[in-house]
Amino acid sequence: MIELAASILSADFAHLGAEAQAAVEGGATALHVDIMDGHFVPNLTIGPSVVASLRRVSRVPLDCHLMIEHPDEFIPVFAEAGVDWISVHQEACTHLDRTLHLIASHGCKPGVVINPATPIHVLDEVLPLVHHVLVMSVNPGFGGQTFIHSALKKIGSLSKIREAHQLQFRIEVDGGVHHDTVASVVGAGGEILVAGSAVFEDGNPRENAKRLLKSALLAANGPGQEISTVANYER
Ligand code: DX5
Ligand code: ZN
Repeated sequence: MIELAASILSADFAHLGAEAQAAVEGGATALHVDIMDGHFVPNLTIGPSVVASLRRVSRVPLDCHLMIEHPDEFIPVFAEAGVDWISVHQEACTHLDRTLHLIASHGCKPGVVINPATPIHVLDEVLPLVHHVLVMSVNPGFGGQTFIHSALKKIGSLSKIREAHQLQFRIEVDGGVHHDTVASVVGAGGEILVAGSAVFEDGNPRENAKRLLKSALLAANGPGQEISTVANYER
């Protein structure tokens, strides 16, 4: 099932609720929330209080992407703020297995993220534990960067590993997902499409989300590649 997670990083933060709502009206079924600490990545974004405000005005799953050092210290507060999915970087976790269990123990769906330079084999032991694997197709930290094409091979390999081992995780792709790259992402096996600038640039998130999903739909032709524009509220 293919779906769009609109990344609010590129939204107008002065009108966050309205922008998020418009993206959902355009077909986004999750809101991707990028948390950056200025250490793990060279940028700062938002904390739990903004997330809690977003939670109050939106019912779709909040997909929290932690780009922070020491994520264990913040998992409880983001869970408390109302996020549904929490993903942590393999590169930021010394005890990744423990961190993924910590996320689950707070009632959230655990996800693991890998940077463009990280090979997928480092995830072998945790693939049975995660709800989603997030493949970064840019170096994390900023919106509006160019898609790194080597991510496509990783997406394809993950899809094969999942089939070979009968695993359940979903494949999420983040960075540079635009109208001109979405077809290759879907063709490779990307299922949760994170898009920030493609949705929020030039102030029309509703139409942008619709158009991006339309491009994804044109590329989706295999079994299991239906497009969802209805959010799954189950936590
Ligand atoms: C970047 C973030 C992304 C970002 C993607 O580190 O993780 O979620 O918002 O932005 P676009 O879609 O503009 O590449
Ligand atoms: Zn992200």
